[in-house]
Amino acid sequence: MDTTKLNHSKLGTKEYWDNFYKLEKENFAENPDDTGECWFADSGAEEKIVDFVFSNLDPNVSICDLGTGNGHLLFEILQEGWKGQLVGVDYSEASVQFAKTIAKTNDLNVEFYQSDILNLEDQFLKTNAGNFDLVLDKGTLDAIALSDNLYDGKTGQEVYPDTVKILLKKNAVLLVTSCNFTQDELIKVITASGNFEVWKTVEYPVFEFGGVKGSAICTVAFRRR
Ligand SMILES: C[S@@+](CC[C@H](N)C(=O)[O-])C[C@H]1O[C@@H](n2cnc3c(N)ncnc32)[C@H](O)[C@@H]1O
Repeated sequence: MDTTKLNHSKLGTKEYWDNFYKLEKENFAENPDDTGECWFADSGAEEKIVDFVFSNLDPNVSICDLGTGNGHLLFEILQEGWKGQLVGVDYSEASVQFAKTIAKTNDLNVEFYQSDILNLEDQFLKTNAGNFDLVLDKGTLDAIALSDNLYDGKTGQEVYPDTVKILLKKNAVLLVTSCNFTQDELIKVITASGNFEVWKTVEYPVFEFGGVKGSAICTVAFRRR
């Protein structure tokens, strides 16, 4: 049985994310301290990612965050002192509007664009080919894996390594954080097309249940071939 094939869910639909970020934007309008949900906060994922990025990459290089949501990860990286270009993309227009509003309100220099990263005809993909040194994904491949959308007969997770590759310079890094896939499954999904190889992995606390060891979340850095 191929455990990388997940069941579909509403979290795989654009409608779900549009409604989600519309509501979060309304909450933010009422309370500017409420910048919304930070995915995988319980696992300390954001801190681990920020730590990894500053420890392993030159802070002058460009970063693109896929499925950026409220843009929180990029704001953290900026506030920690990143000097390079920071760009967040999301297919949900409501997310882009929300992230832009937070950036403007707090005077944070991060760009946001609407983009479906799985669509080869997407304008952002076309105009940003080979533009980025680092591409981040926190929970976006997870959402994609829950979608029943097909792209020329292929699932989102099948086309993901091919379309994401477009944004990266040669040898640039793709850092993916997932809670739906184990580390081995994530590596299988990303390396299936031959576009990427594993560079480094991030350590999380390990739990043991019924004699099986694992962690609730994984982060893997891949290099574009
Ligand atoms: C679980 S949320 C994670 C949001 C953010 N990365 C975070 O960690 O808070 C998944 C995000 O992926 C976005 N998304 C899903 N499919 C996408 C696609 N094909 N292209 C761009 N964004 C997508 C959703 O709109 C949503 O913002």
